[in-house]
Amino acid sequence: MIITIDGPAAAGKGTLAAALAKHYKLAYFDTGMVYRAVGLQMVLDKLNLSDENAAEKIAKQLTFEKMMELSRHPDFRSDIGGQAASKVSAFSKVRAALLKMQQNFSLNPVFADGTPANGAVYDGRDTGTVVCPDADIKFFVIASAEVRAERRYKEFIAKGIKTTLKKVLEDMLERDKRDSERAAAPLKPAKDAVLLDTSNMNAEQEIAEAVKIIETKINKA
Ligand code: C5P
Repeated sequence: MIITIDGPAAAGKGTLAAALAKHYKLAYFDTGMVYRAVGLQMVLDKLNLSDENAAEKIAKQLTFEKMMELSRHPDFRSDIGGQAASKVSAFSKVRAALLKMQQNFSLNPVFADGTPANGAVYDGRDTGTVVCPDADIKFFVIASAEVRAERRYKEFIAKGIKTTLKKVLEDMLERDKRDSERAAAPLKPAKDAVLLDTSNMNAEQEIAEAVKIIETKINKA
């Protein structure tokens, strides 16, 4: 079974993806990591984030191992990593270079320890539209900008990352705008995606709602 979960930043995709992966014993691919890895490598190499060819070169050389190594850097999840990811992800050459790596995972999904899984949960912006257009179940998760900023702010503070709610909101709106307006794979729901608005839901309610939707789909099939 392949499940895709797309939507804007901090809408509740990651929490839902991890919970569904656990519930249905599926592997999990957080596809934002591939763009964060390329963006962070550009920052570390002091390259210009508007240089598409330089970003494409890094994307072509990216391996799963390198991505995991970069994910341990303190800026991988910070505003710096997020903004860099959002900038390089707007380049069609970068998206093309990273597509196979993401699609291959659905052919041979594995858990974090390398053991094979019977399917995968994808989390990203275009996983239902471009990466896995034939996925069994697709969600498009949304929430109001204020709710999303508050959630992301709390995550940052819990991780010891210094920031302000205002800065998080501004950063998120800027990324959302770029992700939605870009020509290459803009953020939008797949035609067959189920829309899930989590503005007034806590994590348990969101997970329960998604499981209910999946069970209904499975029972109908
Ligand atoms: O989900 P996350 O915040 O880690 O994603 C970082 C950035 O990577 C997003 O703002 C978006 O620009 C980009 N991204 C994308 N396509 C995906 C996943 C992430 O363009 N499938």
